[in-house]
Amino acid sequence: MKYSHSLVVAAVERPREGYVLLKLRLPAEVSLSDIEPGQFVELLAPRAPHTFLRRPISVNFVDYADRTLWLLIHEVGEGTRAFSALSPGDKLDCVYALGHGFPIDLPEAESYLLVGGGVGTAPLLYYGSLLHEQGRKVTFLLGGRRSVDLMQLDDFGRYGRVCLTTEDGSTGERGFVTAHSVWATEHFDVVATCGPKPMMMAVAAKAAEVGIDSCYASLENLMACGLGACLCCVEKNADGHNVCVCKEGPVFNVRQLSWQSYK
Ligand SMILES: Cc1cc2nc3c(=O)[nH]c(=O)nc-3n(C[C@H](O)[C@H](O)[C@H](O)COP(=O)(O)OP(=O)(O)OC[C@H]3O[C@@H](n4cnc5c(N)ncnc54)[C@H](O)[C@@H]3O)c2cc1C
Ligand code: FES
Repeated sequence: MKYSHSLVVAAVERPREGYVLLKLRLPAEVSLSDIEPGQFVELLAPRAPHTFLRRPISVNFVDYADRTLWLLIHEVGEGTRAFSALSPGDKLDCVYALGHGFPIDLPEAESYLLVGGGVGTAPLLYYGSLLHEQGRKVTFLLGGRRSVDLMQLDDFGRYGRVCLTTEDGSTGERGFVTAHSVWATEHFDVVATCGPKPMMMAVAAKAAEVGIDSCYASLENLMACGLGACLCCVEKNADGHNVCVCKEGPVFNVRQLSWQSYK
């Protein structure tokens, strides 16, 4: 089920400079369980005269208790700066929830490693919360350049073990997420990842190296329509054909993709 609503901003938080966490009130008619982890919303930027296309932002979390949809946004341009300028009580034009998300019903999978980098950690919070609710074992592996890049750690900690890496060694293990010791010390049935594409390709390669067959990646290709009409978001699949990330993704099993480096 897809919705198009002008949602009321219930709360605005600033986890660090240049980032905003918007909590949007969901109307009573919205069935919360329709919103899959890994799906995204298309937002119309208010008071942004040069930004007429909607901007895609991942579902960060769905709070069932107060019926809010959370979006964690990095300010990089006019659209995202317009979202950051919102205040509680403002309204935001929103089409949701779009695309295909992460799998939540894999029958044999008990243990999950959810690997995020930068603002790509955003969709993993909701995914981890649903897996935790199902009784699956969740480990989050979150990476950033410096400790200040690692956000929502208390929220992640509610749903699983949290492992951290920073490139400068200020928090967690020093280096990239693929170098963390947890890959060597524990077994996982499933890996899911979101972040910069080179990081996700390295994570897919690492999963294959340690013998994990199921690896899912959430792609953040540039998008315009968000509905499969303009073809500006395409990615090559394993057969060499173009697939629309907005409609057939954004989450793919990496084996569906032409990411040669992980094979
Ligand atoms: C499925 C999906 C989910 C996303 N989820 C989130 C999220 O949860 N939080 C978040 O902060 N961002 C997310 N993004 C990225 C976000 O959509 C872009 O940062 C945003 O559209 C930029 O709009 P703007 O008007 O502020 O910047 P623009 O003025 O349009 O661009 C500013 C700069 O950002 C770059 N940029 C624009 N879009 C992207 C993109 N998709 N990936 C990388 N660089 C981009 C541009 O090339 C340019 O250099 C997601 C993107 C996709 C496709
Ligand atoms: S964004 Fe238009 S087809 Fe995907």
